Amino acid sequence: MSRTVYVNGKYVAEENAQVSVFDRGFLFADGVYEVTAVVGGKLVDFQGHVVRLERSLGELGMGMPLTGEELLGIHRELLSRNNVDEGLVYIQITRGVADRDFAFPENVPQSVVLFTQNKSLTSEKPGLRVISVPDIRWGRRDIKTVQLLAPSMAKMMAKKAGKDDAWMVEDGYVTEGTSNNAYIVTKEGAIITRNLSTSILHGITRAAVLKLAAELEMKIEERPFTITEAQEAKEAFVTAATAFVCPVVEIDGVELSGGIAGPIVKRLNELYIEESRKSSI
Ligand code: PDD
Repeated sequence: MSRTVYVNGKYVAEENAQVSVFDRGFLFADGVYEVTAVVGGKLVDFQGHVVRLERSLGELGMGMPLTGEELLGIHRELLSRNNVDEGLVYIQITRGVADRDFAFPENVPQSVVLFTQNKSLTSEKPGLRVISVPDIRWGRRDIKTVQLLAPSMAKMMAKKAGKDDAWMVEDGYVTEGTSNNAYIVTKEGAIITRNLSTSILHGITRAAVLKLAAELEMKIEERPFTITEAQEAKEAFVTAATAFVCPVVEIDGVELSGGIAGPIVKRLNELYIEESRKSSI
């Protein structure tokens, strides 16, 4: 059975879902996106994703074509039509369709596309083996744009090396994973993750997990760390709507926490799943 996809106000079968070749998302990567996790048929941290979506659009001089309430309605309608219990909802908003010109077009309706993906999020995950790669992305990684070629290439480098993912490094320090925020846990039990800036995406899962860690009175240090420091850490992990709290068990060939999820990663993942089940809408 084909999925139902939302395209510019219409719910259509995926094989009939189309956007113009002149869409600025296609020609210029002139668009932003969000991915919201779904657990038990309900949306996790939805409000945070809407706030970040509006901010991303604003940073590119675009407004929200639909209200948060309308977006929630469309997300829910797609979950129901596609019978999604656990998985993701992807939304992409571009500047719209216009003849190719570097200058932004004016008074053009934005394109809005949403689709769902089934994915297991709460089952136990094997630890990721990551490699480090240079971070060659642009300087505004805090805006969630659809320009994902650099992280996609980094992911392929990892795959070619027989690993799972890559941590990107700039000026000697880890920025983030290809599609997740990166963390290490020191021997003393402190959680280290890069501070928020234009160098990384301000993860919605990151905010929720750090809040949970603070409630547990864990020590949190928001600062850059190196690959060497990570290789000497007790545990490492990543967070994202697509991964929740996922252990990292190898960094550039050095194994961590005996190749399995460590106790802090496990605890944070359990708590995040519990919290998601409680607060999803
Ligand atoms: N990616 N950093 C980057 C570069 C990301 O692409 C993502 C998410 C994150 C984590 O953000 P959040 O916790 O809000 O999902 C961090 C999404 C899931 C993706 O591109 O599929």
